[in-house]
Amino acid sequence: MSTGPSRAADPPEPDAVVSTADLRKSYVVGDQEVHALRGVSVKIARGDFVSIMGPSGSGKSTFMNLVGCLDVPSAGQYWLDGTNVSELDVDALAEIRNQKIGFVFQSFNLLARTTALENVMLPLVYGPVPPRERKGRAEAVLDRVGLASRMDHTPAQLSGGQQQRVAIARALVNDPSILLADEPTGALDTRTGVEILVLFQELNRSGITVIMVTHDSDIARYANRIVRFRDGRVVTDEAVARPIDARARLAELPPPGEDEPVAQAEEASS
Ligand SMILES: Nc1ncnc2c1ncn2[C@@H]1O[C@H](COP(=O)(O)OP(=O)(O)OP(=O)(O)O)[C@@H](O)[C@H]1O
Ligand SMILES: [Mg+2]
Repeated sequence: MSTGPSRAADPPEPDAVVSTADLRKSYVVGDQEVHALRGVSVKIARGDFVSIMGPSGSGKSTFMNLVGCLDVPSAGQYWLDGTNVSELDVDALAEIRNQKIGFVFQSFNLLARTTALENVMLPLVYGPVPPRERKGRAEAVLDRVGLASRMDHTPAQLSGGQQQRVAIARALVNDPSILLADEPTGALDTRTGVEILVLFQELNRSGITVIMVTHDSDIARYANRIVRFRDGRVVTDEAVARPIDARARLAELPPPGEDEPVAQAEEASS
């Protein structure tokens, strides 16, 4: 049917929230060209939960940064929710990112001297939510991640798992359709990591598309699908027959004991 001049302009399938075609990214470092992505074509359906795996340097973070509109491809096409993102300028890219994407990193990336509530309110400054509604919005999403009683704590007064929850709340405050998480459990102990996966599975069930990078093949199996990268290409893309249920797994784990190396929150008494 399609006889148009540009095959690249073919629209994506309607149920794909992320659709890439031959996506490439190269970096020039000195007189060397590094090919971080060498032609990645992936479709991710709305409401999917996908794990991205692959060796260090295989292009996982590069892919996430492109999907998250933090960076632009060197070549290829990317449709986000039907919009051809590869054609947008920097301002339009920032706007679509703010509307549709929530990003979570291994190192939390919270502002140190700033309370949980203020950290979560930050992305609202750039969005359409009127100032008088911002505090309520941030409180509601902190409550959703189980931190209603920690809103006035700074990151140093929170455990690693709690800091990651603040980061997830911040990612959710603009009501994104996609949550991108690059090694979200990499800095957490096993139990705390599974607690974060409970939250991801809940968010996914509520309709948010989740894309998560992990080095851990057990963690990957909490998702419905595993995409493996190598040398800037997708080498395997498989459904997970029976994803692990995070809540059930958590119930099997020993309760947090005193010898557990979890940094306890220091109660700030005023
Ligand atoms: N800003 C950059 N400038 C130059 N080269 C880069 C840049 N970012 C990434 N690269 C290179 O691109 C390749 C892919 O990097 P990327 O960070 O995507 O890998 P990764 O799969 O996320 O690895 P890891 O598991 O270690 O996080 C690597 O060879 C890396 O050195
Ligand atoms: Mg990486």
